Order: sequence, then structure tokens, then C-alpha cells
Amino acid sequence: FHPFRDHLLFWKAADCTKKMSRDEKIAIIGSGLIGRSWAMLFASVGYKVCIYDILSEQIDSALKEILVQLKKLEESGLLRGKISAVEQHKLITGCTDFKECVAGAKHVQECVPESIELKRKVFEQLDAVADDKMVLCSSTSTMPASSFTEHLTHRAQCIVAHPTNPPFYCPLTELVPSPWTYPHVTKNTREILEEIGQSVVLLNKEKFGFALNRLQWGMMSEIWRLVQTNPPYYAPLVEVVPAPWTNGVVISNTKSLLEEIGQTPVVLKKEVLGFVLNRIQYALLNECWRLVQDGTISVEDVDKVMSDGLGMRYAFMGPLETAYLNADGWKSYSERYADTIFNVAQDFGPTPRMEGETLEIVHNDLASRIPLDKLNERRAWRDARLAGLAKLKKEMNEK
Ligand code: NAI
Repeated sequence: FHPFRDHLLFWKAADCTKKMSRDEKIAIIGSGLIGRSWAMLFASVGYKVCIYDILSEQIDSALKEILVQLKKLEESGLLRGKISAVEQHKLITGCTDFKECVAGAKHVQECVPESIELKRKVFEQLDAVADDKMVLCSSTSTMPASSFTEHLTHRAQCIVAHPTNPPFYCPLTELVPSPWTYPHVTKNTREILEEIGQSVVLLNKEKFGFALNRLQWGMMSEIWRLVQTNPPYYAPLVEVVPAPWTNGVVISNTKSLLEEIGQTPVVLKKEVLGFVLNRIQYALLNECWRLVQDGTISVEDVDKVMSDGLGMRYAFMGPLETAYLNADGWKSYSERYADTIFNVAQDFGPTPRMEGETLEIVHNDLASRIPLDKLNERRAWRDARLAGLAKLKKEMNEK
């Protein structure tokens, strides 16, 4: 059992044959962490990819690192597409001239740092050189396209496709059209993303932070509050919660006993309502509820944000380490995203009660896919997958 490989079989089986010899071009603006990943994904199905960056040394290092990564993937049997790592790499070129990079591209993927001024500037540059067909797509993690494209001539060609890091392994991508995005631009972008193997969820309306980061940051805000007052260590299987008067020996004996029977205890240093696991789970459920309630996303898609997006990483590491790796450590993550997270968290709104019209929507949607008389079947399906994941984790920990 190998979930990644199974998943990749689907990608490999995708209709690659007719696309390998294609003569279509994709332009990538910004060659950092995300720009590099997009370049690899587009090249995997045979697109010619041109990468632009304001720093020529960034382009050089991107091209070198992409080759190393593609070769590693090939060696481990995880390379996507039907052509070799070297052939995929040959499809990717660098360019220090913005206009030349974008010329003739059918899709432009913007990947510059998360700053509204920078996004506005780069989209103005794109507007000046775009033809009437080009899709102008941003990788922004939080900012709706309408916040930086309103004044552009080609604004109806602008859209957001927010990937999950690392995109090669976490296929979830949020597709977020602005109110003025042409429907065919949304449709074509969805098609191209699915073609390169991404799992696409469509947001029906723009929302600051989209869905994935609202869930992630709702949860992270709760973790942050807990860590600030009480640093627990995270290995969430059994929560040990001593009362203020519980004897230290009782705590350590309980912990040892749980370890002996193969559990992974986490010890809370003080009592807190809901303990840790459920506080985090409820923070997540509340934001899922609000996003469905206000019509931002469907029930099925918000669940997919976890199963194909956040959950892929969380099976192996917690949100704090995830963030640490998504920038250059926590200080760099904080410099880049602390203000944004704070602002998105202010937008969460009141705690919902899980009742009324939204309850009908959520229940009926799930019941249409998993009828109540099929719950046991679905539970068996879930348990088989959990067993497979547990096995994979055990094997990986032994290596
Ligand atoms: P990064 O800092 O690794 O790379 C940004 C690149 O853009 C750098 O190479 C920089 O030289 C270049 N750049 C700066 N100004 C430019 C300009 N005017 N024109 C062209 N290139 C320019 O950033 P990263 O992490 O790749 O993020 C890019 C975008 O993707 C951001 O909007 C971010 O929010 C989003 N994103 C990031 C994720 C992550 O986990 N790092 C996940 C999903 C989306």
C-alpha cells in the first residue's frame, strides 16, 4: 500500500499521450518556492514553461533545483507524466525579460511574494502585455483577485488558483474567480489544473483568506492561544489532563501505562474546557460551518480542502511545523503572514450554532452521497484507509 504512488497512478493514467508533444506555453512570474513547483507540474504534461524573476540568480537556482527535484522523484518512482526527468527539465527555461516570458503564453501563473502592492504592480505589467485570450492567474494565499485587478483592461481574464504547499504532493488547489472573471476563464483554468493532476475546489464567491487558510488559521489561532498559556507537546492520541491537585506521580504513571500499551499521550499542563484535541477540531468545524452557511463553498469541497489539502500534511506533522517549513522558519513566516492571519481571523465572525438551515444543507448534502443506511460501509472504508496510513507511518518511522 502506498498512497502517494496510488495517487500518482491516477496522474500517470491521465490523458498524457496527446499532450506530450504539445507546443503550448505557460509563463511563471516569480521563481521561489511556489513558482518552481508550478513549473514542474506544468512541464509534467508536456507544456513549455518559461520562468521570469526580477533576480536572475533566483532563476538560475530555480532551474538547478528543479532538475535535482525531478531526478529524485524519478528515482523514487514518483515523477508525474510520461516523459523522463531530463526531458521535463528541458521544457523549462528561464527569462529575464518580462514581456518575452509572457509572449505567446496561454496561461500565466503569478507567484511573487504576498503583498497587495506587488500583486497590483505585476498584474498591471501583465495587463499591458496580455492578449485577449491569456489567462492571468495568481497563486496568492489570501487576496481575492478583485482586490488587485479592478482597474485592469483584461480583468475578466484574471483569477486566483491557490495551491497547497508542497503542490507536488498536496494536490488541493482553490480556484477563486472574481465577480468579473469570464466563466470560460474559470472553466479553462479548472481544466488545465485538473490536467496537471491538481484536485480543484471552486469558491462560489471571494472571501479573504479563501477556505484552506481560514481553516488552517482558525485552528492555528486556537493552538497559539493554547501554547501561549501552556506549551503541550503534540502527539494527539490520548490527552492526559491532571486536575490542579493531581499528584505528579499519578501523571507520570498514567503516561507510562499509556505508552506501554502503545498509545501516544499528550499531557496538558493545566485544565482547559474541551481539552486540546476538541478545541482545535471545533475551531475547524466552526469555520467550515460559516463558509458553507454564507455560500462560499460547497459541503463536499470544504471537506476536500482537508482531505486533499491540509490533511495530507497533518498526517505527518502539526500546523506549527507546517508553517515553519512554509517559510524560512517561524520568524520568517511571522514576518510574511502574521498581519494577514490576524486580519483573516478578525473576519471569522461569531461562533455558529450547528442548527437551522445550514444543518439541513450539510446533512442533506452528505446523506445524498452517503445514505444513513450505508454508514457502516463507509466506516469500514475509512478504517481500511486509516489502517493503511498507520502502516505507512510506521514503515516511514522505521527508516
Ligand atoms: P518566495 O519568496 O519563495 O518567492 C517569490 C519570488 O518572487 C522570488 O524569487 C522573488 O525574487 C520573486 N519576485 C519578487 N518580486 C518580483 C517581481 N516584481 N516580478 C517577478 N518576480 C518577483 O514566495 P513563495 O512562497 O513562492 O510565494 C509566492 C506566492 O505564492 C505568494 O503569493 C504566496 O502567498 C503564495 N503561496 C505560498 C505558499 C507557501 O506555502 N509558501 C502556498 C501557497 C501559495
